[in-house]
Amino acid sequence: MDIKRVPISDVEVWEKNPRNIKTEDFERLKKQIEELGVYKPLICYQENGRYVTLGGNMRLRALKELKHRDIDISIVKAKTEAMKIKYALSDNDRVGIYMEQELAELVYPYLEEINLEDFKIDIGEPIDLINIIESFGPDLRLNKHIPDIDYETDETFKIKFGFSNSSVWVDLGQENAETWSYLIHPPPNPKYKNNAIKYNYSRANPVAIERIIKLWMDVGDYFYEPCAGWATFSSIAKYFGFLGEALDNWDFSINFCKRSIAKMPGKGKVNVHLGDAMNSPFDDNQFDFIHMNPPFGNLEEYGGNSAGSGSYDKWLDNMTAMMFENFRVLKPGKFCVIIMADWRDRKILKNGHGDFINLSEKIGFNLHDLIICRIPSQSLRFSRVHYRSRHSAKAHEYILVFRKPEEEIRATRQ
Ligand SMILES: C[S@@+](CC[C@H](N)C(=O)[O-])C[C@H]1O[C@@H](n2cnc3c(N)ncnc32)[C@H](O)[C@@H]1O
Repeated sequence: MDIKRVPISDVEVWEKNPRNIKTEDFERLKKQIEELGVYKPLICYQENGRYVTLGGNMRLRALKELKHRDIDISIVKAKTEAMKIKYALSDNDRVGIYMEQELAELVYPYLEEINLEDFKIDIGEPIDLINIIESFGPDLRLNKHIPDIDYETDETFKIKFGFSNSSVWVDLGQENAETWSYLIHPPPNPKYKNNAIKYNYSRANPVAIERIIKLWMDVGDYFYEPCAGWATFSSIAKYFGFLGEALDNWDFSINFCKRSIAKMPGKGKVNVHLGDAMNSPFDDNQFDFIHMNPPFGNLEEYGGNSAGSGSYDKWLDNMTAMMFENFRVLKPGKFCVIIMADWRDRKILKNGHGDFINLSEKIGFNLHDLIICRIPSQSLRFSRVHYRSRHSAKAHEYILVFRKPEEEIRATRQ
């Protein structure tokens, strides 16, 4: 082994490192280094007199913040990109697994000396790299390699995604969702006791959500769902292995979210928060993905202090406040996906999706995509009311996909 002590200023992080760390875990790492000291070298390759870290990028950042001057590095000969990736994978490879009972018995006698919150352990089943590549291949990894593929005709693509990705989505029968059997039905709206089926609170279509996850989420994305409602998105994201935060300002919906997420199997994890999406409790640039199905004005009434109650102008103001917060907590370059419908204020059709796009663009988002979904809902079928008022029956909703620009433009509230 070629181990050397070098000035920390000569050592750099590997720009392509596919691992990330949450702020709280980074603080834990620093605390551990302070208590236990540095006991293993970083793994680096040499390039133009500098050292680039393939193993220990988080530790390097922590050591720099802790003002260490010199560090030990183990120098490896990684001449090709593939070799660099192999060293990085090998350094983080998990071969051993914890035996939970034995671990608990080992630690238990020392609870006075070991602060349990200082350490996290990984007890999930390790999975083969091939599973990641097959599930989230290059065509899903944004900003990276876009394969030369004919999306219309390529059979592999069709099988993998199971749908043709046009900008009009039809046949979204919710029972066809992979996760359908694990979802809890939204509660009947007590206001409409005699017609509970028709007036159930609506939920975002689970097939649409599965498509959204496959198209715009990336492996390891840390997500946020403001206006979580019945946690349809958060539950499904849990099923697909994502970690995230769900928030709603109505305690009834929060309890429902907890039950819905608990019932859903999957390796992901979702924390549920009672809070106001117009004044989000999260830090700037924290999330890799946001999904929001905001309150629909007069289409549906919620308890709590819903941002959907009141006039159309009030709704627009509230949506502006929510999108401002979404912009703030989202990392640059990442997606914020909105599911919404237009609605009528008395006889006048409000251009809800158009106004929503305008207000989001003013905040700094770019409109990245727009999908129209056919929603075969009972309440949206053509009826005598429509005939009399000469209104078409709206049987669609919109998926608006926004992206925060790469370079961070800080939005300011007007
Ligand atoms: C359309 S529902 C969401 C349904 C959800 N997408 C689902 O399918 O499970 C809108 C939700 O927004 C919530 N909401 C309204 N105003 C809010 C606010 N200011 N902060 C957080 N949530 C809010 C409502 O309580 C309601 O649960």
